[in-house]
Amino acid sequence: MELDLNILKPQERLSLQLRLLYEKAGFGKYHMGRFEEYGLYQENRRFLSSEQVITFTDLDGRLLALKPDVTLSIAKNAQVEEGGCGRYYYVENVYRPSQESHTFQEISQMGLECIGTVDDAVTAQAVSLALQSLALTERDFVVELSHMGFVTGLFDAVGAPEAIRPRLLTCIRDKNLHELQKCAAETGLSRQGTDALGRLSRLSGGWEAVLEAAEPLALNAAMGAALTELRTLCETLAAQGRAEKLKLDLSLVNDMDYYNGLVFQGYLAGLPRAVLKGGRYDPLAAQFRSGARAIGFALYLDELDRTAEDTRENGRVMLNVALPKGRLGDKVYDLLAGVGYGCPENYNDTRKLVVENPAAGIRYFLVKPSDVAIYVEHGAADIGIVGKDILAESGADVYELLDTGLGKCRMCVAGPKDFADDPGRTLRVATKFVNIAKRYYAAQGRDIDIIKLNGSIELAPILGLSDVIVDIVETGTTLRENNLKVLTEFMPISARFIANRASYQFKRREIDTLLGKLREVTEQ
Ligand code: PRP
Repeated sequence: MELDLNILKPQERLSLQLRLLYEKAGFGKYHMGRFEEYGLYQENRRFLSSEQVITFTDLDGRLLALKPDVTLSIAKNAQVEEGGCGRYYYVENVYRPSQESHTFQEISQMGLECIGTVDDAVTAQAVSLALQSLALTERDFVVELSHMGFVTGLFDAVGAPEAIRPRLLTCIRDKNLHELQKCAAETGLSRQGTDALGRLSRLSGGWEAVLEAAEPLALNAAMGAALTELRTLCETLAAQGRAEKLKLDLSLVNDMDYYNGLVFQGYLAGLPRAVLKGGRYDPLAAQFRSGARAIGFALYLDELDRTAEDTRENGRVMLNVALPKGRLGDKVYDLLAGVGYGCPENYNDTRKLVVENPAAGIRYFLVKPSDVAIYVEHGAADIGIVGKDILAESGADVYELLDTGLGKCRMCVAGPKDFADDPGRTLRVATKFVNIAKRYYAAQGRDIDIIKLNGSIELAPILGLSDVIVDIVETGTTLRENNLKVLTEFMPISARFIANRASYQFKRREIDTLLGKLREVTEQ
């Protein structure tokens, strides 16, 4: 009997094709049980995306965990001959906490790992297989590539202090130039150093052009070596005819504890987030085998199951904008309408939630201000305008491309005029911004109780519900008229222009054009 592949669901068929691809390339299947000793994760927690792991005690009293990760087990158990390279692929479910739903999620992963001697040939094979894996989906795709050595080399060259590097790295990753400049200025980095860090976000595009632009900017041997490695790899892939969908983006950075060299991510058109993530992770491999190196990637199979939206209207690429309903949204809309992105229909005259102008390639979704970041992160909108307060509170994983300077206010701790903090007591804090307040007090090591409110926060200390509040202050009128005062100001707020990470891959030209026009009219 012949097997009819058409009875398989698309994900099953793809998974089968990927297995064939990896087997043919000489990779052996790694199978692991559902559970693993918790000790493995505890000892190596710095290599996990989250320290939260589901544990239980088995019948022998051993503490086991539902696996949050496969790479750790492969790195531990890989059979590697002296001077050789162990090649494995896997199809496994992992269990990780989801911040959004506050539950653990079962995530279906397929991936491969090369452990032992990882030379240029092994590296090229791993990245080539990543490209071929996405090609098998038969959708348009992009794999973007970068090298952690370029960024860490740059940090060394400009003298960025260790303590500030994680913050700088977040700004670079989010293409957030405005915060990067602020952070660099606070740290006392030189003007040239700040400019060099800022240039990273522009080092993005076709590999040849990016390398040409980046090579004169290599300030030390580490940066030079990173570019040489990237060039060797891109040339090898180009010679194999596999570089067409390859892009370099030197602002692509990932966890420094985990990745120490090449990093890459793959996107499929119409899907809201990266479906493939990988890179070089020698520190983890060396944990189990002295001197070992490693490279690998994981494909998120559940993501591949989503149907991609067709975002064209009569062949024209449409930009979907999440516009906050209300005063701020109106201001932003007026700016955009002034530079050619208006719609024939005035949304304030109707109850419509979607207005568009196909000729200008623009479509607006009128959303609640607190939901803008969610629409953009999930790809329902490509771009959005959102207050920094809401963005910071949501922790949305998006690019923050511009500070519009509109809607300026500040995040403050406020309390009664005669408030005196008693460090011996737990501080009661009322706020809408639970995550911001927790982070602020955690950084100070102050013990707090949070009282989550949805509005009229100023009432809480008046009625004795809390000692202080964490809230935005614009004119200060609300505080004044309620006999409260600002105790500390700790975060300047204004409206930010954000973009979905995948949309920025496939609609880059359209987003950059709009951004450029918005920049011209908001330049502060
Ligand atoms: C915000 C904030 C303050 C007030 C500050 O409330 O929560 O209450 O504005 O502005 P001011 O410094 O100019 O007085 P919002 O109007 O959003 O209403 P809310 O109480 O429902 O949050």
